[in-house]
Amino acid sequence: MKKRMILLLAALLLLLSGCAGQNQQPPAASPTPIVVGFSQLGAESAWRIANTASMEKAAKKAGYGLMMENANQKQDRQISAIRSFIAYQVDVIVFSPIVETGWDNVLREARQAGIPVLLMDRMIETTEEGLYAGYVGADFYTEGRKAGEYLIRKADALGKTHMNIVEISGTPDSTPMRDRQQGFMDAIRDDPRFTVLSSISGDFLRSKGEECMKALIDEFGVDGIDVVYSHNDEMTLGALKILENAGAHPGKDVLMITVDGAKEAVEALKQGRVNCVVQCTPALGDAVMELVRKLMAGESIPAVAHPEEGVFTDFDDLTDPAVEGF
Ligand code: AHR
Repeated sequence: MKKRMILLLAALLLLLSGCAGQNQQPPAASPTPIVVGFSQLGAESAWRIANTASMEKAAKKAGYGLMMENANQKQDRQISAIRSFIAYQVDVIVFSPIVETGWDNVLREARQAGIPVLLMDRMIETTEEGLYAGYVGADFYTEGRKAGEYLIRKADALGKTHMNIVEISGTPDSTPMRDRQQGFMDAIRDDPRFTVLSSISGDFLRSKGEECMKALIDEFGVDGIDVVYSHNDEMTLGALKILENAGAHPGKDVLMITVDGAKEAVEALKQGRVNCVVQCTPALGDAVMELVRKLMAGESIPAVAHPEEGVFTDFDDLTDPAVEGF
């Protein structure tokens, strides 16, 4: 409503200024810019910060206005942001849901207002059809499988007969947490060499990664842990610090498997302190803006679009310039 009012006022002013002067050409009508309302879930990681930058850059490149709200890890703040985008009558709403459940009401309101919604990075769980137009983001399940497949290969190479694993997982009820866990467990499930001692949540935060690692060392001892599988680089880097402070040699006597591919983690891989980095790209902005363009043009869009992602491990030639973080 507010946006339409502003446009009306602007049109009126243009008309009046046209009347005031003699022999003036009427101003060329400029097309209404597309406005995207974007609710980012927080700034918990290098991944998230790079993702926000990717969205800002892509919107600018596409010539779209971007109204961005950062929810600081709070679902209710994301819901309020979406409501404010509806009140503003943005053209498209994009959001990265912190958790999977609890969105139906606000998404019904968006549908009622005729505003299409795109999910970016994370999924939602709903039984209702038509609450969002499409999803752009990683295939987290495959990321988890890649982590598990690396572990099997490494255990083979080391000739291990048994390994104790601890998992530091992401935010409970979030898509990357659920799917990275499921993919990993499915990959190793039938291999009797592996025991998962514990899985605790570090909420994708470095500080909590430290806390989790301390708790795990208290419970199992440094010598009782052979593998740390952590759902993101921030938590891995926190865990790394605690392990090193405890006198361990992560990358050597404790295998470190992480997900994301931020510069700091890839650097740690090159230093031999991390063994496997499963890539998850934060550069989703261009793909999102392309879907916005299609929606605005009335074209159909895919329900799900995954970017291409790889994996860097200590089996690779780490001097290859292609091995770099974001
Ligand atoms: O949803 C993507 C995940 O969220 C990234 O792995 C993590 O770093 C971020 O916080």
